[in-house]
Amino acid sequence: MNVVERAMAPAVFTEGRVPVFVPHVGIDTLKHLTDALEVGWLGMGATTQEFEERIAAYLGLRDRYVVCTNTGTSALHIALLAAGIGPGDEVITTSFNYVADHQAIRATGADVVMCDVHDDDLGLDVASAAALIGPRTKAIIPLHFAGVPCRIGAVRALAARHGLRVIEDACHAFGSTVDDAKIGSLGDLQFFSFDPVKVITSIDGGCVITPHRDEVERLQRLRLLGVDKDTTLRYQNKRAWGYDVVSEGFRYHLTNIMASVGISQIKRIDEFIAGRRTVCERYSDAFAGLPGVRVMRRDYSDVSPFIYSLRVPAPVREALIEHLSARGVDAGIHFVPVHRHTRFADARCTPMPVTDRIVDEVITLPLHSLMSDRAVERVIEGVWSFFN
Ligand SMILES: Cc1ncc(COP(=O)(O)O)c(C=O)c1O
Repeated sequence: MNVVERAMAPAVFTEGRVPVFVPHVGIDTLKHLTDALEVGWLGMGATTQEFEERIAAYLGLRDRYVVCTNTGTSALHIALLAAGIGPGDEVITTSFNYVADHQAIRATGADVVMCDVHDDDLGLDVASAAALIGPRTKAIIPLHFAGVPCRIGAVRALAARHGLRVIEDACHAFGSTVDDAKIGSLGDLQFFSFDPVKVITSIDGGCVITPHRDEVERLQRLRLLGVDKDTTLRYQNKRAWGYDVVSEGFRYHLTNIMASVGISQIKRIDEFIAGRRTVCERYSDAFAGLPGVRVMRRDYSDVSPFIYSLRVPAPVREALIEHLSARGVDAGIHFVPVHRHTRFADARCTPMPVTDRIVDEVITLPLHSLMSDRAVERVIEGVWSFFN
């Protein structure tokens, strides 16, 4: 089956193995791509700007600004730099997180310090973070794990008491809401990822959202080699020849081609999220009563689910993964805690009783935007047959 045939029949994908992730690339995405290729301006341009405008409209932003980048990791890197973070500073995040954040912090010259998570939403434990705050602390990065909102109100209150920036890792949570407002529409800085397996993808991509008008040009310069006043022209698919370079900067911009994929996907996001919510609720209903098993949520109405994370007794996790695999169902593990990686073993940390326990309990089950009933049933049957 070629890519066009597959785009027209996404469910066929899951008749063999059931993978953890299946990005949905439909015929509509192929059309956006070929249209963008025909325009012939492949680099950052008018389509990048259109994607930013569509992100702002979807999230319901008012007096907030979107700057697209080529990855979520680069979005965080420039967000940290725009917030003035650098050598000698400390940034707090969770160890139970993707190492992209820790690497981006280190890339600024700042030090990573790591705290524990809450046992229920697996988001940043505010008391644990508070214990790490000292004179060098400049920012906190809480993660909305799996798309489930963390206790962001308490994080903001803690940051406000200590004059810290909050840079929300919303990479899993594009479309999740807190008190009916989309994550990204309130608070300090947020960043998102549109990598290949996220709820919407631009193949690779990301964005920063800031409420600070004066940070926008800084972010735009940081994403494009420190070039001054280039964004306006590029957004018209034009190039500035008489440019100046006024600051440090990187090649972190999002191209028209990648943005065209992102636009095709954001047009269908409501359908994708609805499909994912239904699967998560079916899983939670099926697994809630199993012995020793913990579901994160029964109700997913405020969640744009990126992954479905289940907690199982640590001693049986490996056997469950093998049992599922033998039935053609793949499973994943999110995350290996970062304080156990060699590069970050010397980082300052609080005690991590919850992280150290849950990392042996979490298992990620397959979740796709347009998942066939048969695939969902196979996952449920696989887990059920293991525990019964
Ligand atoms: C929690 C978290 N933060 C940051 C990132 C980095 O995003 P990207 O892969 O777009 O660089 C990811 C990507 O998977 C992630 O899961």
